[in-house]
Amino acid sequence: MGQLDGKTALVTGGTSGIGLATARRLADEGAYVFITGRDRDRLDAAAASIGAHGIQSDISKIEDLDALAEEIGGHGKGLDVVFANAGGGDFATLADVTPEHYRDNFDRNVAGTVFTVQKMLPLLNEGASVVLAGSTAASEGVAAFGLYAASKAAIRSLGRTWAAELADRKIRVNTVVPGPIETPGLTGLAPVGQKQDLLDGMASQVPMKRLGRPEEIASAVLFLASDQSSFMTGAELAVDGGQIQL
Ligand SMILES: NC(=O)c1ccc[n+]([C@@H]2O[C@H](COP(=O)([O-])OP(=O)(O)OC[C@H]3O[C@@H](n4cnc5c(N)ncnc54)[C@H](OP(=O)(O)O)[C@@H]3O)[C@@H](O)[C@H]2O)c1
Repeated sequence: MGQLDGKTALVTGGTSGIGLATARRLADEGAYVFITGRDRDRLDAAAASIGAHGIQSDISKIEDLDALAEEIGGHGKGLDVVFANAGGGDFATLADVTPEHYRDNFDRNVAGTVFTVQKMLPLLNEGASVVLAGSTAASEGVAAFGLYAASKAAIRSLGRTWAAELADRKIRVNTVVPGPIETPGLTGLAPVGQKQDLLDGMASQVPMKRLGRPEEIASAVLFLASDQSSFMTGAELAVDGGQIQL
């Protein structure tokens, strides 16, 4: 018996890193899993390796989200789990940020999450669980990570509001808060030739003195997605080796 037998789940950005590990974990627990991503080849490879249903979709395009909702709706089972995971950011100090940098961070992380969850609302079954992707960056002052951190602070706030708005439908909304997790998204932040320095530097800031693994976030998302967390809503669950706890 899997924890999610008979359930249907959507993982946005399910082709890499945290999303891929989580989609695999939810499928292993018996869920029928939809994954999204923009890159067709990566999507097809990830869907095949998990046994998931891949839908090419960009969370920053409303027309893509409408098409995503239509395709999932056509499946006829609604959604029991939404992990609004797709997102990311890059470094720029206040002196260097441009309107494009601002728009990229906020379109992807804030607008992308808002409209993903909004478009899935009609599909959510009673008792569904929505999990948002926060970040420890939202609670820290990391130089040159301001727009990303601010966008993730918005996610944390939205999670609380949506938990209040959806409680009547018995839908729970929680935010998973990863610390530094070794994924292509994280390693891609390093300038060429400086990957190991970046990873070592980040690991040294974590009380547990290591980076997290995507599978460790997947376990937390499974907990929030399942009835194991049935009395949790509006919460933040930090999975960060103690980074913002100690
Ligand atoms: N890794 C960390 O240390 C860490 C820490 C805290 C929070 N997080 C958060 O966790 C989430 C996943 O991060 P990750 O490190 O696993 O990232 P990743 O390895 O870069 O994977 C990102 C995934 O999202 C997809 N994606 C990106 N932009 C998208 C868009 N506009 N529309 C649809 N899909 C999109 C990517 O596929 P395509 O490029 O093909 O679209 C990919 O599947 C993000 O929200 C990130 O901010 C990560």
